[in-house]
Amino acid sequence: MRLSLFVRVLMVSLIPLSSFAVMQRFTVLQHPAINYYETEPTDSVTQLWKRIESGEVRLERDAQHGYLKSLLNALDIDVSSQILVSSKTSLQLKMISPATPRAIYFNDDTYIGWVQGSPLLEITTVDPKLGAVFYSIEQEGDKPKIEREFDVCLQCHNPVAPGHVMSSTVPDETGTPVFHAGFFATSDRSPLQERWGGWYVTGTHGDQLHMGNLVLRNLPPAKAGLAETTVKLERSEGANVTDLTALFDSSKYLTNYSDIVALMVLGHQIFVENQVTELNYAAQKAVYDSPGADTLKQWEGKAEGLVDAMLLVGEAQLSSSISGTSGFAEDFQRRGIRDSSGRSLRDLDLQRRLFKYPLSYVIYSREFDNLPAPARNYVSRRILEVLNGEDHSPKFKHLSPDDRQAILQILKETKPDFAR
Ligand code: HEC
Repeated sequence: MRLSLFVRVLMVSLIPLSSFAVMQRFTVLQHPAINYYETEPTDSVTQLWKRIESGEVRLERDAQHGYLKSLLNALDIDVSSQILVSSKTSLQLKMISPATPRAIYFNDDTYIGWVQGSPLLEITTVDPKLGAVFYSIEQEGDKPKIEREFDVCLQCHNPVAPGHVMSSTVPDETGTPVFHAGFFATSDRSPLQERWGGWYVTGTHGDQLHMGNLVLRNLPPAKAGLAETTVKLERSEGANVTDLTALFDSSKYLTNYSDIVALMVLGHQIFVENQVTELNYAAQKAVYDSPGADTLKQWEGKAEGLVDAMLLVGEAQLSSSISGTSGFAEDFQRRGIRDSSGRSLRDLDLQRRLFKYPLSYVIYSREFDNLPAPARNYVSRRILEVLNGEDHSPKFKHLSPDDRQAILQILKETKPDFAR
């Protein structure tokens, strides 16, 4: 097992890596088609680091946040993407609590974790071949030191293939998750009432309630491992919060927000990106193991899952309009590639669903483009069948004929290789 010395000092105890299911997940990483541990990544962080080492880019340090601000800038990550986690659910759990939440910042392929008072910045990014790749940056000293990380991160970030995580569980006042009050994996399919436990949430959302901003105080001691103490969540107490100052001392953070639209976009992005990676792994392996053969059967299920995820099948519908506080929605949409009518796959709806034109912008990612050709062609063909109206399975009924046409037109103009 390879852990940098620095992370070893901070790390939580490793989940025993010996159980069969866990071992299997790690074995795939060593398959010669993937070679996760030895392959040099080409992701955005690696590219930035080459520029830092050549002296072309310099990161500046400040007393309160270390290299954070400068790094966000260098990686082109908007500060408005800040979201705050109050639960002890990640690596540096001792330092995380509702009073000292962990901050996460992200763009389309890179995520940064910052914990108050910690000398360690956590980074994950999506590599076109390897899926999620992990780094730690040491904040102390006059030059930032970066280290690629492996198993210490993968123990939690490798559900099927190296990826990203988002879940929902309300913490007690120390930040310890109270699992028996509800634990849910989060995606764009999660009903709002199951989202954002353990996260701060700023924004308005009418009367549709979520689990964010809640802290369970004065809990009776849980009975040995049983969910006997049923906890009733008063979701309305965490609803429609637009300013965090009343909840904890937020002055230590880059902004006073944990934006609801950023949280929604993150839930969608992680869900789709993880499935691109799972398909990527399955197809790379199959193509390597059976050169020249038809390998469809080995990855068809994952490809179909990805088609559904990209077309937002099963998305939770909204019953009132959603509005953020940090300017994330504007920043996110500004980055869209637009067609001649000014439309983009990043246009947000936020009245009844997340996107105006429900086909994920993850289609523009390097990892999608880098899928083994049979898998990429299959997914592209299936998406086009839905958009052309050839596939009118009921699960795509959320896409009206107008939606399908608009998406097709946007694709033709902004990703011509795809429509071909
Ligand atoms: C104990 C489990 C655990 C370990 C170990 C862990 N993480 Fe995470 N990580 C999580 C969870 C859970 C989340 C979701 C947000 C949260 O609950 O804090 C997360 C989220 C993140 C995010 C935000 C993007 C995302 O996936 O949601 C980054 C960045 C991140 N982790 C980096 C790392 C790095 C780098 C390492 C190794 C040095 C690491 N993590 C180790 C559990 C873990």
